[in-house]
Amino acid sequence: MASVPSLAATVHQRVANALSAALPESGSADPLLRRSDRADFQANGLLALAKKLKGNPRELAAQVVGVLDGTAAGAQRPADDVLKDVEISGPGFLNITVSDQAIVRTLAARAADERLGVPYAAQPGTTVIDYAQPNVAKEMHVGHLRSAVIGDAMVRILEFSGEQVVRRHHIGDWGTQFGMLVQYLIEHPHELDHRTAGEGEVSGEEAMSNLNRLYKASRALFDSDEEFKVRSRDRVVALQSGDPETLALWQHFVDESKIYFYSVFDKLGMEIRDPDVVGESGYNDMLDDTCRMLEESGVAVRSEGALCVFFDDVKGPDGQPTPLIVKKSNGGYGYAATDLSAVRDRVQNLKASTLLYVVDARQSLHFRMVFETARRAGWLGDDVNAVQLAFGTVLGKDGKPFKTREGETVRLVDLLDEAVDRAAVVVREKAQDLTDEEIAERATQVGIGAIKYADLSTSASRDYKFDLDQMVSLNGDTSVYLQYAYARIQSILRKAGDTGPTAHPELELAPAERALGLHLDQFAQTLAEVAEVYEPHKLTAYLYQLASHYTTFYSECPVLKADSPQQIENRLFLCDITARTLHQGMSLLGIRTPARL
Ligand code: ARG
Repeated sequence: MASVPSLAATVHQRVANALSAALPESGSADPLLRRSDRADFQANGLLALAKKLKGNPRELAAQVVGVLDGTAAGAQRPADDVLKDVEISGPGFLNITVSDQAIVRTLAARAADERLGVPYAAQPGTTVIDYAQPNVAKEMHVGHLRSAVIGDAMVRILEFSGEQVVRRHHIGDWGTQFGMLVQYLIEHPHELDHRTAGEGEVSGEEAMSNLNRLYKASRALFDSDEEFKVRSRDRVVALQSGDPETLALWQHFVDESKIYFYSVFDKLGMEIRDPDVVGESGYNDMLDDTCRMLEESGVAVRSEGALCVFFDDVKGPDGQPTPLIVKKSNGGYGYAATDLSAVRDRVQNLKASTLLYVVDARQSLHFRMVFETARRAGWLGDDVNAVQLAFGTVLGKDGKPFKTREGETVRLVDLLDEAVDRAAVVVREKAQDLTDEEIAERATQVGIGAIKYADLSTSASRDYKFDLDQMVSLNGDTSVYLQYAYARIQSILRKAGDTGPTAHPELELAPAERALGLHLDQFAQTLAEVAEVYEPHKLTAYLYQLASHYTTFYSECPVLKADSPQQIENRLFLCDITARTLHQGMSLLGIRTPARL
């Protein structure tokens, strides 16, 4: 299928081009064209241009309208002209109405393209995205959910835009706690037997519950037994220096944890590929060099025995500078040394032009310091963009950080299961003719979609309330609402039988058809913006509005009972391109759109 090469294929861009060409010195200013309530579009750019030319904006506007009208009074616009009416308003704005023809013709051209006319980015680069990074031997929580959901959506959106995307799951698989865990296993070897004795493969949940038990038992011993503590610390040294027995046991923890992680990602319908899981341990061999280079270049200095980087504007509550500690006074490396090494790897080896970190906003200071240090060290040049896509905290209905009644962190798996259960109730109520199997399948698509959508539809940086009742509601800004809109369209298309969707640009459009068409026209622009500013909530907002426009269209414009066969086909065409846009948009968010609900 032909691919539409550029955004010039939208009505919006065509209007902007026509305006630009009509300016006194053709193309001399941005017409600043926006969608508008008064007409289809409003152009505000003539004000600035008039100022620049030291002229009167209304006169300039009249001149531009003259050019657009073909100068001679009474001149007819060509029938396929995109502009139907241009009016001057206020100090020199232009209110623009486009022709019905242009809307349908443009949509038809896009419909012929499998990408719906969405162009590739003009200058794609390589983004290394750090997301979905849980910690080994620990339960995943809602924070990990956010990183996974937002990160997965960004991967899809960026790849669709033509960006080269390298995924990195920076899992917490290194550090002092592994000394304790491995030491515990060495001293309680039957625990290991216990874990491997089971028949067949362990499930993700079993793996996690075993890890949990081990974690709690070793932590209890560590806190109560001084000698165990010492042996654990020695074990960290053995781990870092690569002692084979220690490493083998450590690997066991990592492998068991991965079984659990993958089971959760699987529930979420997310593909996590093993080679992309490069945890903290993956940078172990680089840590020495990272610190040596920082010290030699003077970027880091010794302070109270630790190797530190200082910043003028980062101070603690006592007014004392808070440094980034790259090497502790006991010689141990921390989180920062690993992240700095990861920056080196991602820029130098993976050739990143953008580093994107989907991480909790509470780690913003850490990333600010890491990026700045890497810039000073010359590892991050001006040609590399480093961004933290910081997300807020997940709150309970009470507005406090999300915890169980007992004050414990809520297990992610429990939440996902509950969302699916509630979705099953909604699905069962709506469609009584489904088998249990079909209900289960749809409940998964609806329940998981609901969780993802709720997460993606608020601006990431804001905290959001985790409210399952609201998430699976059929009314309002939820994924279920969008999924139903999609399924409803599919049902109409099925009922249409042999009558297929066909565009008829010669037909006059009803107001609801124009509104729907002009909203569909903004799809590519919305995606380009989302990919540019890393704000998936702009895509959910677009899709929600699309479904709302469709609902209005559906109630005002009979489709299968329209006046003429051409009108039936044209309305089916609008239905079809709406469905395809919904499907494409939702799939970029990682949300399924079942054909029947
Ligand atoms: N494992 C960390 C956590 O659970 C998140 C890692 C974020 N990524 C990074 N490169 N530091 O909080």
